[in-house]
Amino acid sequence: METLRHVVLFVHLIGFAVLLGAWAVQAFGGKRQFTRLMSIGMTIAALAGLALAAPWGLPEGVEMNYAKIGTKLVVLLVIGALLGIGTSKQRKAGSVPAVMFWLVGILTAVNAAIATIWR
Ligand code: HEM
Repeated sequence: METLRHVVLFVHLIGFAVLLGAWAVQAFGGKRQFTRLMSIGMTIAALAGLALAAPWGLPEGVEMNYAKIGTKLVVLLVIGALLGIGTSKQRKAGSVPAVMFWLVGILTAVNAAIATIWR
């Protein structure tokens, strides 16, 4: 079970990498638009994250930090809302508001920081 948990964590990190990578391509040299790959990465990170939010496959005596997990879930929901609303605006107007675009990258980095720094 512990190994399976590590595999799910690996999938979670792939989702995170796809989301941040797809965003970085657009931010630095791209058209600063939302792409399907960002939503795919976010969905992978969300599904694997929810699976990791349950207390299974943990070594003896290890407790889960539910405040941290809940905070990450809220941040992810905001990212999801931004991607959803921004993509529909982009379809209508041809571009996504700059503040929405930058917030997706910043909040993704914030969630990675929460994951790694908050113990
Ligand atoms: C864009 C959104 C997210 C990003 C960028 C992200 C990033 C990360 C990273 C980098 C790790 C590895 C940390 C480590 O092992 O030290 C991690 C682990 C983890 N994530 Fe996420 N995550 C996101 C969303 C979520 C969500 C929505 C949940 C659950 C509701 C979640 C639950 C977890 C759990 C339980 C772990 C296992 C290690 C730990 O407890 O810190 N994550 N995440």
